[in-house]
Amino acid sequence: MRRFFAVLVCAGVAASALFLGGCKKSGPASAGALIGIAIPETHVTRWVKDGETLKSEAEKRGYRAELQFGDADQSIQNRQIQTLLGLDARLIVVGNINDEVAPVIAEAAQKNVAVIAYDRLIQNSADYDYFITFNNYKVGVLQGQSLANALGLEQADPKAPKSIALFAGAMTDGNAFFFFDGAMSVLNPYVENGVLKVVGPYPKTSADKENFAKIATEGWQGTIAKARMAGLLKEDAKSVTLDAVLAPNDHIARAIIDACRADAKYKGKLPLVTGQDAEFESTMLIKAGEQLSTVFKNTSKLAEAAIILADQIVKGETPSIPGAVLAEGSLAEMGNTGKKTVKTYLLDPVLVTRDNLNVPIDAEFYTAAENEALK
Ligand code: GAL
Repeated sequence: MRRFFAVLVCAGVAASALFLGGCKKSGPASAGALIGIAIPETHVTRWVKDGETLKSEAEKRGYRAELQFGDADQSIQNRQIQTLLGLDARLIVVGNINDEVAPVIAEAAQKNVAVIAYDRLIQNSADYDYFITFNNYKVGVLQGQSLANALGLEQADPKAPKSIALFAGAMTDGNAFFFFDGAMSVLNPYVENGVLKVVGPYPKTSADKENFAKIATEGWQGTIAKARMAGLLKEDAKSVTLDAVLAPNDHIARAIIDACRADAKYKGKLPLVTGQDAEFESTMLIKAGEQLSTVFKNTSKLAEAAIILADQIVKGETPSIPGAVLAEGSLAEMGNTGKKTVKTYLLDPVLVTRDNLNVPIDAEFYTAAENEALK
């Protein structure tokens, strides 16, 4: 009899272990589950803040979070994503560098690990379902509008056209095409009616791949943008004084401004230069009248929204993200990876000029010391 009970107890222990073991795997989906965070780079400083906020938002919701920075090298980020998969990540938030990330996204799909493309579409992949970003076409429209307003293009005289040089982001980043096309949707009509003259390569849209490649900036590297601007000043722009430069983000804007500062022609009168990301160094330049504008994308809100989405995916809930709208109609194209169209959630960008520097400050986007300096 004792033997019978012994067997019964062992069976019970084994069963409960199995249940608990099984429970651990299929227990509360989120408690203690690991969320991986793969951020592309840190040379563009906004990404540091994105990574830190994603981690803290995940931990706030009871997840473990593992944050990795890819140093703008996709092979490094791929190894990081594989490590996160090896750590049994439940979901991975990926801000990729380029579409060579696709094979490790496929590995995640094989392991049934969900992936969210964060602020950069993962191109040439059908192995994930969600992308969360800003309305990047509107980012460009805001950049174009800030130039049109500041240059007074509505009232400008075709006999004395304003001159502009064009820069774009990295061709490996789908956002760069939307930024540029948004801006040129505003600026092209002024070129066509003669009040705006493009100095240097002039792709009307990013569809003009040959000329777009000439104005694109590999890896969003400031050093590449600065060298191109210095070359423009010596060649195509040698005999004109540029009134403006379309710069796709703050990191490139500052590189362009540095190149102009080195040219005596622009002493005391820099061209009007756009930007994006509301990086502190650039908002200081805007305050000083040395950069025209930036576009504030509250990446703290983007990171929070991404983790809300992640939590809902992990729990099998239908996504519903405060402050983000599901892209529909023509905007849904922002989620076209080339292999499928993923569900794309968009947050709203805001133009920031000298007149509304309070917007990123009030959003607590900067440190106390930075706010002090911006007063
Ligand atoms: C883009 C992003 C921009 C800027 C740029 C440089 O994908 O949308 O906000 O950060 O990368 O990293």
